[in-house]
Parts: sequence; structure tokens; C-alpha cells
Amino acid sequence: MELPYAEPYKIKTVESIHRSTPEQRKQWIREARYNLFYLDSDQVYIDLLTDSGTGSMSQKQWSAIMSGDEAYAGSRSFIELRETIRELTGFQHVLPTHQGRAAENVLFSTTVKAGDVLPGNAHFDTTKGHIEFRNARAIDCTIDEASRTDLYHPFKGNVDIAKLEQALATYGRDKIPMVIVTITCNSTGGQPVSMENLKQVREFSLQHNIPVFFDSARFAENAYFIKTREEGYAGKEIREIVREMFSYADGMTMSSKKDGLVNIGGFLAMHDHELYRSASHFNIMFEGFLSYGGMAGRDMAALSVGLMEATTFEFLESRIRQVHYLGEKLKAYGIPIQEPFGGHAIFVDAKKFLPEVPKEEYTGQTLAIELYLEGGIRGVEIGTLLADRDPDTRENRYPELELVRLAIPRRVYTRSHMDYIAATLKNVYDRRDRITRGYRILDEAPFMRHFTVELQPL
Ligand code: F0G
Repeated sequence: MELPYAEPYKIKTVESIHRSTPEQRKQWIREARYNLFYLDSDQVYIDLLTDSGTGSMSQKQWSAIMSGDEAYAGSRSFIELRETIRELTGFQHVLPTHQGRAAENVLFSTTVKAGDVLPGNAHFDTTKGHIEFRNARAIDCTIDEASRTDLYHPFKGNVDIAKLEQALATYGRDKIPMVIVTITCNSTGGQPVSMENLKQVREFSLQHNIPVFFDSARFAENAYFIKTREEGYAGKEIREIVREMFSYADGMTMSSKKDGLVNIGGFLAMHDHELYRSASHFNIMFEGFLSYGGMAGRDMAALSVGLMEATTFEFLESRIRQVHYLGEKLKAYGIPIQEPFGGHAIFVDAKKFLPEVPKEEYTGQTLAIELYLEGGIRGVEIGTLLADRDPDTRENRYPELELVRLAIPRRVYTRSHMDYIAATLKNVYDRRDRITRGYRILDEAPFMRHFTVELQPL
């Protein structure tokens, strides 16, 4: 018989996790004011809140930890990291930061002013948060196909160039400090951007002299999708594809907690020396000196190794296959999920799953809570709570998609965990008719409210 696929690693260190009873979970979620961010991790059996900083490091990364150089200035670990980033991306200038949003903070402190607009494919919430915090606006120029969960499109992260042109015509060149392309696009479901589209954005940018930055948290997964889905790339190495992707950008922000395969860290990288100089001041002010920027030397050492591991086909294949195994299982149960499956997560269509729960009662959050109650699984709402209020009108923004994201940490869970997750969803799906009401907000923050919101069941 044909040998089945199996992971290209074995497990050396284990961490115990514990199941709980439905009664315990009922009490815990009430105590957490129905906000899954307020649960203790010990109250969760399988944690799919995020794939950010939750992955397992390899023995090579752990070895690198021991040889980290903790010098305040000129750390060898930084120099090695910079070399790795230069080799992978082609960007000469590198500023380390403590995580991805810190890189955004440094970049936007240098480049964005009140009244500006930053078009791109659907911006991640920290990106949008940092833009709106500066009284600027993020303009979503994702292709329309992205919001149709039942429609197949191999690159649902693509930017609609006509929408970019429209943004330019509406606001004018002077209001647009940069275009941001998020690879893969988290907010549309971990969906990739094609090389073809990156090239088109580049052409637009050169034509109008507008820089392009990539929000690159999951750049390696994006390269995997280009290799496996885009014509002409099947025979190319992941690193060749990565290099080509970045050749269409002026710089990048990075959350190393994803495709850097580390638990904390980020960086900003770019070609332009002047921009590097001005960003450096903010880096020193917010993050730390230029050769550590909020990271320990040992963390930078583990990151250099992680970036190299993440850009191998072997790793990416096992990573994406696991996510897609879960997707196939859910699909077989008839559960409405976004297709094609994303790179880092499966996104459940909560509107279709719970059609009775009105959007004003937070359909996505309602489903996320039900999954926790059923099986101790913690996913996250990507819907109205996350979309927050319009900064001008303070009205709720109702996104087209009301999703629950099941993000899969890298190299952490096994196939039986995937089976358990799928069964949990199936059980909730079987009793969906009895879930008709959602929640109301008791308390919320002025921005990024989903982290700290307090809710009450209706
Ligand atoms: N950009 C993207 C596309 C992200 O997904 C994230 C984080 C960031 C930037 C910010 O990076 O967390 O290191 O500050 N996403 C996490 C998630 C939080 O759960 O998807 P960070």
C-alpha cells in the first residue's frame, strides 16, 4: 500500500494538558465575563486562540538559545540574525523589535500622519489600530471574492488593483505614505497573495511612487501556497520564492511569533537608508538599542534558526497539511467553513453555523463560547467584536464575515487533537437549532475592545 503522510519530526519534550467537566467550564467562562481572553490557560484543553508565539521550538533552536550573545551593543546574535534576514529577504537594514505591532509602531511613527490613508488587503487589527491611533485610515482593497466563504479562489488575499487606483483618485498621492500587503492575509482567513498580484501592486507603486511594505508574519506560508497553487512555481525552492516575493516590496514588518518559529520577537526591515535612520530613533525610544530592540540575544539566536526552518518545504508541508486535515474533517461533517482553507487556521462561518443568532448579539463570539463549553477548546471571534466601532460614528462595524478562527500552533498538537476538535464542533453543530440568542456588551475599551470586553448572555 502507499505509505501515508507523517510528520517530519518526533517529540522530545511534552507538556501536560487537562480536560475539564462541562460544569467547570460553565463556571469558568462566567467568571471570565464570557471573554475567552480572560480564561486561564489551565482552564483550556486545546488552545486555538492563536498561532502567535505558541509554537514549539526545535532542538536546534534550543541549542541556539544557549549560545545567544547578550551584549547590549553589537550582539553577535543580532549580526547573525541580520545576515539571515538579508539572505532571505534582500533587505539590508534590520531593526529588531519585541513583536510585530512594535515594528508597526516604529514604522508608522516615522511615516504616518493624521489624515493619511494606507490602502492594502485587509489589514490586521494591530496594524489598523496603529493607523487609526494616528488619526489615519486603513483602506481595505481586498478582492471581493475574499468575503464569499463558499467560493473557491486560490489567492483570496489578493489586492484589487482597481480599488488601489480608486483610493489614489479619492485621496491623492500625498495622503498615501505606503501600501501595505499582508502575506498571508490574516483578516480574510489566512489567505495567500499570489506572486502575480504582488507584481501588480509593485507596478502600481512604481508608477505612482508610493512605497510598498509587506506585513510578513506568515510570509513562509504564503510562499508555500505560491509553490503549490501558482503556475510556474512548483519547481522552485521556498527560499527562491520568498526572495522573489520580497523583491516587490520596499520593506517589511514582521511578527516573528508566527513564521519565525519563536515565542516572542519581531523586526522591521527595509532598503532605504534614510528611512532606516529616522526609524532608528523611534526604535531606540520605544524598543531598545539597534542591536536588540526588545529582544534578548538568545531569542534572536533562536529566531535566526527558526526563520531558516520555516522556509523549508518539509516544515511547511507538515504545517499546512495539519491545518487542512482539520478542515477536511469539518467539511465532511457539513460544518460551514471558509474555503480554500487558510494557512494557519480554519475559519468557521458563524453566520451560517448559527443563523438564528443576530449579528447584533455577536454571532461569532456566541459560537466561540459554545465550542469552549462543549469541549474546552478556545478559538477566537473574528467578527463584530474584533471589527470594533467606527472611529467617527462610534457605531458597531458589522463585517461581511462573522467567523470563529481555530488557529493551529506550529508543531504543537497531534492528529488526535485535530480529531477531538472536529468532534467538538460536530457536537455543537448537531445542537445548533437550540442556540438562538447571543450576548450583550457590559463594558468595552475605546479601541481593540475584543481583548478586554465584558459580556452578558441574553
Ligand atoms: N500582522 C499580522 C498579519 C498578524 O497576524 C499579527 C498578529 C500582527 C501583525 C501583530 O504581531 O502579535 O507580534 O504584535 N497576529 C496574532 C494573531 C496576534 O493571533 O493572529 P504581534
